[in-house]
Amino acid sequence: MSKGSSSVSLKPSERSDSAGARNRGERKARILAVSNQKGGVGKTTTAVNLAASLAAAEREVLLIDLDPQGNASSSVGFPREQVEVGTYDLLMGEAALDDALLSTDLPPLKVVATTPNLLGAEVELVDLQGRESRLMQALTRARARDRWDFIIMDCPPSLGLLTLNALVAADAIVIPMLAKYFSLEGLGALHATIEAIRGAFNPDLEIEGIVFCNHNQRTNLAQAVVSEVQKHFPQHVFSTRIPQNIRLSESPSHGKPALLYDIESKGAQAYLELAQELMTRADSRVAARL
Ligand SMILES: Nc1ncnc2c1ncn2[C@@H]1O[C@H](COP(=O)(O)OP(=O)(O)OP(=O)(O)O)[C@@H](O)[C@H]1O
Ligand SMILES: [Mg+2]
Repeated sequence: MSKGSSSVSLKPSERSDSAGARNRGERKARILAVSNQKGGVGKTTTAVNLAASLAAAEREVLLIDLDPQGNASSSVGFPREQVEVGTYDLLMGEAALDDALLSTDLPPLKVVATTPNLLGAEVELVDLQGRESRLMQALTRARARDRWDFIIMDCPPSLGLLTLNALVAADAIVIPMLAKYFSLEGLGALHATIEAIRGAFNPDLEIEGIVFCNHNQRTNLAQAVVSEVQKHFPQHVFSTRIPQNIRLSESPSHGKPALLYDIESKGAQAYLELAQELMTRADSRVAARL
């Protein structure tokens, strides 16, 4: 990871005023991309359980699955083979957001799910006009920012057009990370990506925070990696750590976020805590601007 990565700053963005908007009796969604080019670091687990935890705190939440694997969709009860209209249709302009909305067991949580044809979208998007901003346009057309408090997008473990659509639509990125040695390299690459996207498409893209997933605080290596990341990204590491917890790996096969599967579990509790930390940060960001 380069030294320059510590220069990432949280720029105030007019678009991220979720708490302030609520005070004024209207919604103003904060749009978050859960992304890391590395595979298997906890992106989907974080997107699903953070979305559910925000919904449990009575925030209106929209979860969008941008990963052709469809793990976020199946984790909330929508295996991709059973979904008729989803993210693909939104990106292709073949359906409006409202036609793709699915309801979950948590009423404030809605989902736009993966369909099997999302796999082809990376290729099909290449020839389309505004290929990297199709999702942003679909959200704008549907006035999504005025209808939800949080829009959370689960990204695939690659930097293709699907992830790019998420990063162009996003106010900020949530970065799940494992406290492993090789994670530091991945973080450097991600930082370079964020800088490139700021330069080319989305100058206001912020880092919402880095969250350590599947975490075992007791190992020396984990502690060393956390300190190293904190040194480079001082304001960007969530103090909530997500422990390794069997319930988090079991609940997806039941089509439920962890808090509906076993709310007492350490995993469910950690994501509820992460949601609180995220909301507190959002509120203090708004307060700092007033
Ligand atoms: N805190 C945790 N405790 C136990 N298991 C976890 C935890 N976080 C994630 N897992 C498990 O680790 C695996 C990878 O997690 P997940 O699917 O969230 O990663 P991902 O980054 O979305 O992967 P991909 O890059 O393939 O999209 C899954 O089987 C998941 O259930
Ligand atoms: Mg995933």
